[in-house]
Amino acid sequence: MKKIPVILDCDPGHDDAVAIVLAARSPEIELVGITCVAGNVEVEQTAANALKVCGLAGLRTVPVFKGMAQPLLNELLTAEHIHGKSGLDGAELPPTDLTVQPTHAVDFLIEKIFTFPHEMTIIAIGPLTNIAMAILREPRITELTKQIVLMGGAMGMGNVTPSAEFNIYVDPEAARIVFNSGIPLTMIGLDVTHQVLVSRDIIEQIRQNGTSLAHTFASLLAWYNASLNALSGELAAMHDPCAVAMVCDPSLIATELMRVDIETRGEFTRGRTVCARGFSAGRMPNARVAVGINAPRVWKMLIERLR
Ligand code: BDR
Ligand code: CA
Repeated sequence: MKKIPVILDCDPGHDDAVAIVLAARSPEIELVGITCVAGNVEVEQTAANALKVCGLAGLRTVPVFKGMAQPLLNELLTAEHIHGKSGLDGAELPPTDLTVQPTHAVDFLIEKIFTFPHEMTIIAIGPLTNIAMAILREPRITELTKQIVLMGGAMGMGNVTPSAEFNIYVDPEAARIVFNSGIPLTMIGLDVTHQVLVSRDIIEQIRQNGTSLAHTFASLLAWYNASLNALSGELAAMHDPCAVAMVCDPSLIATELMRVDIETRGEFTRGRTVCARGFSAGRMPNARVAVGINAPRVWKMLIERLR
């Protein structure tokens, strides 16, 4: 089976950390690189966290790149109230000798899309600033990128405001550029990721894998769950790994073709992904939107591959 070349654009983040390990350990994927963006925490920290996760998981050959430090127009809004000051509170990840690559993440994205014309899949699980910048810098990548599978948005309720999900809310202008780019797009939103919940039982199953990696991830997820629970009374959701799981096995998530427009101006609706089935006032569909997920099978894949 030919592996799918993937660049993972992320802002670790607890669920991003799980997504990194899942992408690196999935036989379906060739993880060409990890690009980091400002989101859950500042970009210096998301890059440092990606390196630590790679160090912990023994991913010594996956290059890590630092990207945009700020959204295109907004001030950066972080999610330290959910992921902690480090972005990965809850476990002490061992220091690593791995270092960030000298190339900027945006240049790396462009270069690799040209190296793998019509083959590269981008899995985007943070704000879309790096991807939008790459499109602005080199518009030809819109013809050459195979697909973007992103975690972000919602047909229903948001999680930062009633209208908007975090990754889109942080940089709606970037999201609009990406959704309007013409690159084949799959949007994995809160409607499905909120079905993949971290329970005590799941954490125990991960811990029982016995390895130090599994132990660290169990502690991280327990902290993430407690943090979400204290804020909202709800269980935490494993958002980002769903996007990776979709690339590995598209049968896990059902999608529908829709027109998705990004609201950038509304006083109460900025960052909303406005989803319409099929054509919207004559506008062409531009994304496959996740409408259903097999959560038990996603967890099975995650637990097996964290082992
Ligand atoms: C998204 O926001 C971030 O906090 C998570 O890492 C995920 O990418 C969920 O709304
Ligand atoms: Ca994320």
